[in-house]
Amino acid sequence: MTAGTKGRLAGKRALITGGAGGIGCKVAEMMAREGASVALSDINGEGVEAAAAEIAAETGCNAIGLQHDVTDLEAWKQTVGAADEALGGLNVLVNNAGICIPGSVESLDIADWDLTMDVDLKSVFFGCRVSLPVLAKSAPGSIINISSIAGLIASYNFAAYNTAKAGVWMLTKSAALQATRQAYDVRVNSIHPAFINTTMVDNVVAGASREENVAKLARQVPMKKIGTPEDVGYACIYLASDESGFVTGSEIKLDGGISAM
Ligand SMILES: NC(=O)c1ccc[n+]([C@@H]2O[C@H](COP(=O)([O-])OP(=O)(O)OC[C@H]3O[C@@H](n4cnc5c(N)ncnc54)[C@H](O)[C@@H]3O)[C@@H](O)[C@H]2O)c1
Repeated sequence: MTAGTKGRLAGKRALITGGAGGIGCKVAEMMAREGASVALSDINGEGVEAAAAEIAAETGCNAIGLQHDVTDLEAWKQTVGAADEALGGLNVLVNNAGICIPGSVESLDIADWDLTMDVDLKSVFFGCRVSLPVLAKSAPGSIINISSIAGLIASYNFAAYNTAKAGVWMLTKSAALQATRQAYDVRVNSIHPAFINTTMVDNVVAGASREENVAKLARQVPMKKIGTPEDVGYACIYLASDESGFVTGSEIKLDGGISAM
């Protein structure tokens, strides 16, 4: 299997964290269909290997799965090194792994605050730090940080998630400026989805079924629907490709109009 020679990401090599399921797996698959070689990483080692094998079989592109805890700096060094070596260079990092634990400033467990900061924010710091020089070596490069509309708009019951995702938004800008200062030719941007139909929506609302949860969330969106992992995939393809060559330190909102209200 080789990197694709056709498509908007022909010849690109991408590492996507949180790739065992949900948004990360779909982003990796869509990037592979656009000609990228992909490394998927996840704390769920078996799950991510299975996801990579399926993508390789379906797209004919190079796809590998790597067990990786994004809260661990040493694991980041190993994973970025392994992806760089296996794919013959690295052009794109998608910092996608994340968790969402509800709780207000008064009710949230301290341990859940710490865990959210580690998985949702510190991980992105580690990812940017470790990958920047590696991406620079194979420039042009692109780091795509999956924040959330919750990083721009707060709700009473997501104190830690709001805070971590807002941190990702600003860290993105700081990392983007650092890359320009170093003349790395690596761009850094964030994506801010509202509700996307993955298992994560079950943490956001507690309904009897996924369908009920989705319907409840859709009523809060001006477009009266929630998003799909494909919606995030298309934004990632744009930011990963050279089409977005003048875009850095910026953000894309995928929210069906929520933030326009
Ligand atoms: N689904 C939504 O409504 C939504 C909306 C906005 C933003 N997001 C963001 O999109 C990203 C992906 O979310 P999703 O909906 O696909 O969720 P998901 O729960 O389906 O997938 C998250 C993945 O991250 C992995 N993961 C968790 N902790 C990890 C760790 N310590 N190290 C490595 N991997 C770890 C999980 O194993 C899982 O495969 C997250 O950052 C999330 O905050 C999701």
